Amino acid sequence: MNWLITGGCGFLGTALIKRLTQQGNHNIRVVDNLKTGTREDLALVAQFREIKQEAISDVPAGIELVVGDIMDDRLALGVSRGCDIIVHFAANTGVGPSVEDPRADMMANVLGTFNYLEAARIHKIPRFIFASSGAPAGEVEPPIHEELPPHPVSPYGASKLAGEGYCSAYKRTFGIDTVMLRFGNVYGPGSVHKASVVAKFIKRALDGDVLEIYGDGHQTRDFIFIDDLIDAVLLAATVPGIGGEAFQIATSRETTVGEMAEKLVATLNTAGVLDIRLVNAETRLGDVKRNFSDTTKAKKRLGWQAQVELDEGLRKTASYFLNK
Ligand SMILES: NC(=O)c1ccc[n+]([C@@H]2O[C@H](COP(=O)([O-])OP(=O)(O)OC[C@H]3O[C@@H](n4cnc5c(N)ncnc54)[C@H](O)[C@@H]3O)[C@@H](O)[C@H]2O)c1
Repeated sequence: MNWLITGGCGFLGTALIKRLTQQGNHNIRVVDNLKTGTREDLALVAQFREIKQEAISDVPAGIELVVGDIMDDRLALGVSRGCDIIVHFAANTGVGPSVEDPRADMMANVLGTFNYLEAARIHKIPRFIFASSGAPAGEVEPPIHEELPPHPVSPYGASKLAGEGYCSAYKRTFGIDTVMLRFGNVYGPGSVHKASVVAKFIKRALDGDVLEIYGDGHQTRDFIFIDDLIDAVLLAATVPGIGGEAFQIATSRETTVGEMAEKLVATLNTAGVLDIRLVNAETRLGDVKRNFSDTTKAKKRLGWQAQVELDEGLRKTASYFLNK
């Protein structure tokens, strides 16, 4: 298959590329502005050639990196030529940055997504995978499932919801098999640049810094290990009859941030990282109190279920950071 992966130098993108190269027989074109992910991150998972925008060929060959921004509509049309599928990972990620600069979040997540849906329409690319999140659902009584009316709290949730809206329209009007994957809180090896809670806590613990839990630590999240998530993306790329559908991709387990932090401290202690201090800090604007997913639909329609337990996932993640 010929893949276009936006944000392919990031956490999820490099994990997907690693898996695809292990499978073999795939051509992959990556577009990334290198705001977060780097050439070095991509080089850790695959040998690639960097291609200038004016030299993009009709079909990707091997693994190619094109450095550019998803807000550039001409680039979107150029890089997606000859691709069978678009996996749209590039985004302004996370609640915090969207609260600090809602306009930048909207531009990257709404316009950027629109540009790649347009590219899919114009080049007749049959499948488009959209990286969504629990954030569009917002402050609702969990578990979150696909039929709940969305009430986003953060600008990030609103911009992802807009992306989902366009994905729905591009299926129903233009027949593109868009698949919206609403990921839980992803953690795992490869998350070195992430500011999400597991990666941030491990980095801070290794630097001897205090771990700050926003609020009382009773807020809940659904932590999903990266390998499980990549299994779901690969199924979403190939399972027939799921165009225009959204799926909760998480574990169905509700874990408080406090519990996760305690497990993580224990894991790090066992690995010899001692004297880790946890403190409570102010609640963060835009954060929801409870968040976990019902993944029944993914099980039924994709034949997918998360396999990795939190303890095992935290061990693997801690060991990745310790080996870096
Ligand atoms: N990691 C999570 O916990 C999580 C949870 C839910 C949803 N998601 C979504 O999954 C996707 C991938 O997340 P990730 O964790 O790999 O993030 P990441 O930040 O590691 O990777 C995103 C990549 O996109 C690139 N990028 C950012 N803005 C860009 C732009 N305007 N133009 C071109 N490239 C740009 C960055 O340089 C980076 O390499 C995002 O859409 C994110 O919102 C992630």
